[in-house]
Amino acid sequence: MTIISFPEFLTHISDTLLPRLEHLQVEIADAGKCCDLKSISFEGGHVPDYSLEVVQDLYMLRYYGGYLCEYRTIYEEVLKFLKTPIHVRSLGAGSGVDLAALYFEVRERRIPLGIINWYGYDLVKWSNRITFPGLSARYRECSVAKIDHFSPEVNVILFPKSISEFDDETFNALLVALHKSRFKSEKVVVASSARAQSRSLNLDIRRFQQVADVFTEHHDYRSEDESDKFWRFRHENTAWASIYAGFSLPDAVVEFLKNLAERCPSRIRKGRPCMDDCDLALSRWPILKAKAVRYQIMRLER
Ligand SMILES: C[S@@+](CC[C@H](N)C(=O)[O-])C[C@H]1O[C@@H](n2cnc3c(N)ncnc32)[C@H](O)[C@@H]1O
Repeated sequence: MTIISFPEFLTHISDTLLPRLEHLQVEIADAGKCCDLKSISFEGGHVPDYSLEVVQDLYMLRYYGGYLCEYRTIYEEVLKFLKTPIHVRSLGAGSGVDLAALYFEVRERRIPLGIINWYGYDLVKWSNRITFPGLSARYRECSVAKIDHFSPEVNVILFPKSISEFDDETFNALLVALHKSRFKSEKVVVASSARAQSRSLNLDIRRFQQVADVFTEHHDYRSEDESDKFWRFRHENTAWASIYAGFSLPDAVVEFLKNLAERCPSRIRKGRPCMDDCDLALSRWPILKAKAVRYQIMRLER
């Protein structure tokens, strides 16, 4: 693991999250209650309506920091393996967290930004999609089922916490598109950041194997990596801040998430929570440790 220390990383995280916090606080004040937030679940098996801005806000505040670091560990492996320009397709890209991870890894390694060509697909147009000056990055608002084939130069296919969010029809269409593509790179990386809960993890792994099989069985790639294995941190309680210097979430974000139930305007008015499950459903710590990391990677070569 490499250590960086440039304040830009910290600034990027606060600049991304503080407007989200402000927006969510206004929404909660306008609604006068937090009931709608209680039913938003990001646990494996639940697919929330990401087109709602409050859903995006809550997701970003809880997960952005942790996923940014996790995707950096993935791109670290990608960049060690591929020395050439990288042409990424991020499938289910959301706000572009993995683009930010790639940007910081490239900067860390003092690689020219010009090597990056990143294309993110998502059904939803997330507000405040991440961009960086001087970076070739494009977002496309459409289902991955609409991809007919991948361009020959594509050499990184990433599923950032998305592989099991696609319905079966979409996933099968994607397999067809991968099958009919003509990949010309000698080296290709396919990676997926999986869910930690065992039921979702199993589905993530099964789907990843199907994707890997297209490359090994149809496109003549081979790999030392095993498609049913995933990477995790040996010391799961390691704080991201001790791995990536400059990583920190703004105090205001941590405090807000930890104490969300107590900030509910209805609770403040009544002096008590409306329901017994309010505390459990609302107040959560954001990800600050490498605990939930489970990612799969196939470094493929011809
Ligand atoms: C858990 S979110 C992950 C977002 C982002 N990659 C991240 O790491 O924060 C899953 C994303 O997959 C997207 N998604 C679900 N089905 C999709 C489809 N058929 N085509 C494209 N994106 C899809 C959702 O809109 C959502 O943004």
